[in-house]
Amino acid sequence: MLRQGLLGLSRSSQVRAVIEKAPVSRDVVRRFVAGETTADAVRATTELRESDRLATIDFLGEDTLDVAQARATTDAYLELLAALADQRLSLDGAAEVSVKLSAIGQALPGDGDKIALDHAREICQAARNAGTTVTLDMEDHTTTDATLETLRELRQDFPWVGAVLQAYLRRTEADCRDLATAGSRVRLCKGAYKEPESVAFQDSVEVASSYVRCAKVLLEGDGYPMLATHDPHLIEIGTALAAKELRAPSTFEFQMLYGIRPHEQERLAADGQQVRVYVPYGDQWYGYLMRRMAERPANTMFFLRAVATK
Ligand code: FDA
Repeated sequence: MLRQGLLGLSRSSQVRAVIEKAPVSRDVVRRFVAGETTADAVRATTELRESDRLATIDFLGEDTLDVAQARATTDAYLELLAALADQRLSLDGAAEVSVKLSAIGQALPGDGDKIALDHAREICQAARNAGTTVTLDMEDHTTTDATLETLRELRQDFPWVGAVLQAYLRRTEADCRDLATAGSRVRLCKGAYKEPESVAFQDSVEVASSYVRCAKVLLEGDGYPMLATHDPHLIEIGTALAAKELRAPSTFEFQMLYGIRPHEQERLAADGQQVRVYVPYGDQWYGYLMRRMAERPANTMFFLRAVATK
């Protein structure tokens, strides 16, 4: 109930306006968001490097209905990629970027898909110049087909572009089969949006079972699986499945979110696994933060306590 409520609120512009102005917000946000500027993202990436963790960096923003905003977000990615190259952080894909197509134009009426594709091409070209890769985040199910079509188009010129698949969607096992091919990079996560039963498993056990089936398809295939989860059970199963397929650590990776289970991130990295941390930055943190709260009631309590004691 709480999860569904918070996910509903994550798309409310009125609640967003109130929360963003709350005096406490900044401290709470800092737990999950690296900061507001390119320099903050570079700093967080450098810190992760010190403990052998890779990064995928997200300039926060989503559901943009303003062409100028979509352009500004694209420019922020170009600036970020130049800064990563400058600091030699992007070499060999050590720090890459994650992009939400709705932040760069997909949600615009009319030719949104084309605008997002053009912007994504620019970001991919900048990533190529910086020696790194791009992964397309996956948003709610109404955008899945369009995002996979954009992925297909981008991969014609930039074959290393990756995408996210969400285990809670009933369609995802089939999508994994389609994408478990040589050169294909797939990040598998549980899924973070409010979705109807007609398209998504609602029960956490069913979502976890789907995750295992999908991970098996990806790890048995020829692509590069990126297992994005903090779930200890799924990390254990992912490790066992990879060992069964005789996959070397360089042929797949684990991924987690900035600020969530950092000790587990360090433990896996120290154990010789590749670990990549999703680092969000920027001032459009509202939707991202609400999804993190929906995942864990304790985060909501942390937030409410911070408001109450301010
Ligand atoms: P689960 O939510 O069951 O958590 C397992 C354990 O991890 C919890 O018991 C707790 O210990 C810890 N934990 C999890 N979430 C926490 C939180 N918010 N705060 C504190 N502790 C927490 N989704 C999507 O729809 N589209 C996308 O593109 C992406 N991209 C993405 C990239 C990466 C790198 C990751 C790790 C995740 C995503 N997600 C995503 C989010 C994903 O779908 C999912 O909502 C979260 O990862 C939480 O699911 P878990 O698999 O971690 O399991």
